[in-house]
Amino acid sequence: MLNYLITEPSGRCAPDSTRDYFMLWIKAFHIMAVICWFSAIFYLPRLFVYHAMSEDQTSKDRFTIMESKLFWGIMTPSAVATVALGAWLIAGSPSYYLSAPWMHAKLALVVLLLIYHYLCWVFFEKLKTDSRVRSHRYFRVFNEVPIFMMVPIVILVVVKPVFGA
Ligand code: HEM
Repeated sequence: MLNYLITEPSGRCAPDSTRDYFMLWIKAFHIMAVICWFSAIFYLPRLFVYHAMSEDQTSKDRFTIMESKLFWGIMTPSAVATVALGAWLIAGSPSYYLSAPWMHAKLALVVLLLIYHYLCWVFFEKLKTDSRVRSHRYFRVFNEVPIFMMVPIVILVVVKPVFGA
């Protein structure tokens, strides 16, 4: 049964087998990966703001190193872990998840998030050679974009709204 994934209104979650408990562990690690991914997603464009404002070569080089460590050391591995653990959760009950409209909406938003991740990579590569590729104001606005994916994704997975009912 699916009750290991369905949180009751009381907040109680009732796994009924060893496999159900195991899937709760996968979900816990999925959420940890999401936290790591978002911490980097919110911090990297902030570094772009400071990079775009920097004047001297020493500062530019320092921001390039910081961006590289953040993008390759935290952001990309945690994106891979989020997607892999999420796919594992779906593989645990494919007919349930793949027929759920809230999951379709969530996956569409995750695609937008992956496009945002890719754009971060593009800007990170361009900033290495040209710190004026975009203004610091542009990056300040760019920095706010992932909020519009995170908020609806969390609402979709927790509230699981029923569309059109
Ligand atoms: C391809 C990427 C992803 C896949 C395949 C995926 C899949 C899943 C699945 C199947 C669950 C279990 C849902 C349930 O039955 O309650 C889940 C839980 C969750 N996901 Fe994802 N997910 C992905 C990305 C994300 C992202 C990007 C976020 C955050 C912005 C996120 C946040 C969460 C949260 C908070 C839960 C826990 C919900 C709860 O138990 O109340 N996921 N995910």
